[in-house]
Amino acid sequence: MAAATTSPQASTATSPGAPPRLSLQRETIAADTTAIRSLDWDRSRFDIEFGLRNGTTYNSFLVRGERTALIDTSHLKFESTWLPLLREQIDPKAIDCLIVSHTEPDHSGLIGHLIDLNPEIEIVASKVAIQFLEDQVHRPFRSRAVKSGEQLDLGTNPDSGVQHRFEFLSAPNLHWPDTIFSFDHGTGILYTCDAFGLHYCSDDLFDVDPGAIAPDFRFYYECLMGPNARSVLQAMKRMDALPAIHTIAVGHGPLLRHHLGLWLDDYRSWSSERSTGETYAAVCYVSQYGFCDRLSQAIAHGIDKAGAQVQLVDLRATDAQELTALVGEASAVVVPTWPAQADADLQASIGTLLAALKPKQWVACYDAFGGNDQPIDTVAGQLRALGQKSAFEPLRIRQVPNTGDYQRCEEAGTDLGQLLTKAKTIAAIKALDGDLDKALGRLSGGLYVVTAHQGEGADARSGAMVASWVSQASFDPPGITVAVAKDRAIEALMQVGDRFVINILREDNHQELLRHFLRRFPPGADRFAGVSTLEGMAAGGPVLGDALAFLGCRVAQRLEGPDHWIIYAVVEQGNVSDTQAHTAVHHRKVGNHY
Ligand SMILES: Cc1cc2nc3c(=O)[nH]c(=O)nc-3n(C[C@H](O)[C@H](O)[C@H](O)COP(=O)(O)O)c2cc1C
Repeated sequence: MAAATTSPQASTATSPGAPPRLSLQRETIAADTTAIRSLDWDRSRFDIEFGLRNGTTYNSFLVRGERTALIDTSHLKFESTWLPLLREQIDPKAIDCLIVSHTEPDHSGLIGHLIDLNPEIEIVASKVAIQFLEDQVHRPFRSRAVKSGEQLDLGTNPDSGVQHRFEFLSAPNLHWPDTIFSFDHGTGILYTCDAFGLHYCSDDLFDVDPGAIAPDFRFYYECLMGPNARSVLQAMKRMDALPAIHTIAVGHGPLLRHHLGLWLDDYRSWSSERSTGETYAAVCYVSQYGFCDRLSQAIAHGIDKAGAQVQLVDLRATDAQELTALVGEASAVVVPTWPAQADADLQASIGTLLAALKPKQWVACYDAFGGNDQPIDTVAGQLRALGQKSAFEPLRIRQVPNTGDYQRCEEAGTDLGQLLTKAKTIAAIKALDGDLDKALGRLSGGLYVVTAHQGEGADARSGAMVASWVSQASFDPPGITVAVAKDRAIEALMQVGDRFVINILREDNHQELLRHFLRRFPPGADRFAGVSTLEGMAAGGPVLGDALAFLGCRVAQRLEGPDHWIIYAVVEQGNVSDTQAHTAVHHRKVGNHY
């Protein structure tokens, strides 16, 4: 199917103070197969940067052959309802095995409870997942580690006559390092947990309305799977070797059945687009250590925003051969501080990583804030031992990371991404036909500074950018569009529902402001230092003291263009400081610059 072109729209809302709505759904989806979906209608955030518009679901599945398997559990918040519903289906003692697709707490939150109810249950998962679970559940349990190609035969259900034979596919990084997919040869259902999922809560069990869910499907891909595009293609290659897949039973959102080919085509084409070039950045992290995974995702997201390719690499779970290839072939390598007392396996991985570095690579590092890390300057020194260039200053994190730290990581990632895409960007600018370029340059606009501010105290984040691609776009309600380059730092603050301010600059007093806001700011810098602002004038961001007028706006829609987001916003408030003055106008000569 064609790529969805808009980001998700706001649809559900709870009145302030009301408890979040949680409910459960149980349905038969194939022979001897029951889906138990935990519906989390009001969840509004997931991971860094991931604003949810339509809640989410956590899906688990019960499959009965001669023996019975449960696939994943639920979020701990469903403890009081999910376990009783499971009990209505089956005595937990009669569940022979629990297949754990990966160990992220929204799917594994009730595993400990299940082990208490049935200490004999066998946990079937990847080797890494079993190691993670030992640290998570703090109880002894029986386990079986499985790899790609291994099988689990539940035998034939005596009523249906269907044999449920599972085949496992390893799918590292989708989106956790320990992920496995499970394919039931009896029903043709592939269980993929996070991969192919979407955060979308509705009563629809299946993908009956593709138009409604496509924007969320795309958004989810971009946030979680895009930075792992190479791993997506590897996993899809393994899927190609399976017999016909009838349904993809995802861990979040509706199950994919009616339009399966379209969703698979989307994943394949989006991932191929992101994996075609030779250059990519390897962003390393140590799973389950400090804040490494979230920080690495913020850096990866920033790199991705700049249109550069990125590969997340778990130093704990990637074997030496793969690590050497991933690091050696990368154009840039980003590394966290690692534990001063790393275990032997991790030490060996770090040795492999350092040995695989090449002199011409960009390198950078960030604090994992794990408690007892190697000093970041030591790590930075080791990374540059062969004369490598530093892509950004070491990201020092001195406390439990807050919103500002994640913003700094994302902006540093974008700076790195821009280094990798520089040549491509220059080539694209030069490629414009001369006459067309001049003609396009006759389009003119005003001069504005877009500002945005969100959160308070440690969670505060803000941004600003000079803009001239601003235009009124509706009378009723009053609305405007602004084209925001995909790699702009402020783009993260202009999601649907977010507020921002357009400061309209004066013809007779704009040079100073332009000079200030067009400087290159280091990641996370306060862009308003030294600028006069009027606090409390507008809801979404600072109003500049020297602006001629301001417009307080709320983002209603985002249309995805090739290199810019076209952001349509409703104007909620506005004021003019001097009715006699004129707006600064920007005349250009060519269309390949602003
Ligand atoms: C005259 C002028 C107009 C601009 N208009 C836009 C615009 O409409 N949209 C945009 O994304 N960037 C625009 N830019 C570029 C950004 O203002 C500038 O590069 C940005 O603030 C720096 O990027 P960063 O905030 O991501 O670090 C313009 C730049 C100039 C000089």
